[in-house]
Amino acid sequence: YDDEEANAKVDAALEKVDEAAEILKNGGLVAFPTETVYGLGANALDPKAVAKIYEAKGRPSDNPLIVHISRASDIGELTPMLTPKIIKLIDHFWPGPLTMVLTKKDNVPDITTGGLDTVAIRMPDDPAALELIKKAGCPVAAPSANISGRPSPTKGEHVVEDLNGKIDAILVGGDCRVGIESTVLDMTGEVPTILRPGILTAEDIQAAIGGKVEMDPALYINRPRDVSEEDSEGPAPKAPGMKYTHYAPKADMTIIEGQRDRVKKEIERLKGLNENLGLKVGVILFEEKAFIEAAHDFFARLRDLDEEGVDLILAGALSEQDGVGFAVMNRMLKSAGYRIAKV
Ligand code: TXA
Ligand code: MG
Repeated sequence: YDDEEANAKVDAALEKVDEAAEILKNGGLVAFPTETVYGLGANALDPKAVAKIYEAKGRPSDNPLIVHISRASDIGELTPMLTPKIIKLIDHFWPGPLTMVLTKKDNVPDITTGGLDTVAIRMPDDPAALELIKKAGCPVAAPSANISGRPSPTKGEHVVEDLNGKIDAILVGGDCRVGIESTVLDMTGEVPTILRPGILTAEDIQAAIGGKVEMDPALYINRPRDVSEEDSEGPAPKAPGMKYTHYAPKADMTIIEGQRDRVKKEIERLKGLNENLGLKVGVILFEEKAFIEAAHDFFARLRDLDEEGVDLILAGALSEQDGVGFAVMNRMLKSAGYRIAKV
């Protein structure tokens, strides 16, 4: 981090790492910062500890967890897979916001992988997280540290809001630099496939390993809110978590899409109209090409608007031509229940 306040937060977290690691060793739950979003951790190899994660979050048990490690060499405990491409990806992107889905070894319990024979692995880029995992002495399973369905937490106070009293400890560190969850890349097939888009884009991955990188076709299907999972058309996403409507703010949200000036005007118009009806309206409108900033701020904005008690949220669409824009839009569409108005 380059500012003093952030560094002070990291130092404060580092001071508590020993205590937090002890809790993980004893089968408890600890929330901790990562560069993407805060995670809710437990010993990934202890089924009883992992069961507590699902319970605390209210998470469906078919939704597998990401297993976090602190040294690239620890990957061998979890998977027998190690190809030249995997090694290149580790060299380029770890520690960092890349999760790889690989075939799992038998010691990884079913509850950690939602019954799948693959395991998702990542090495986070946060000093407190790395120290915590190292000291715990075990791989750490961790989904985002929010109540299921709420926006992912990008600040310590978001975790306190959702999980205080439900888990054994919250390691409060710096605010998350990235702000959206890691890119999930399936490496078990012929062609590496992105199951969840993130700040690391298909182009970034392609530049590192060459060859083709595909997107899970399910990422292009914007299911309308009133269609149930069973009835919806098209392929099911390969990352089980991607099928759920996530990140829903309390207010109803609509995305306005179209040419920039028209979007701005339409948001102004709808805002005025609804305010005249006595409704409280929140607006999310990022600068046109500020994709990284949008990723950083989006979840925090949703939580702020919930706090303010708005009735309605109007959000300007980002360009999905850009890889990071696509990743933020993936979250924005879910938050809005796929409600989009084109102007
Ligand atoms: O940035 C992140 O990835 C954060 C931080 C804490 O590391 N974690 C996170 O975890 O976002 P979670 O549980 O909220 O999301 C994990 C995603 C889900 O969509 C899940 O379905 C998918 O990864 N996933 C996990 N294991 C998988 C597997 N074996 N095969 C396919 N998808 C998997
Ligand atoms: Mg999550």
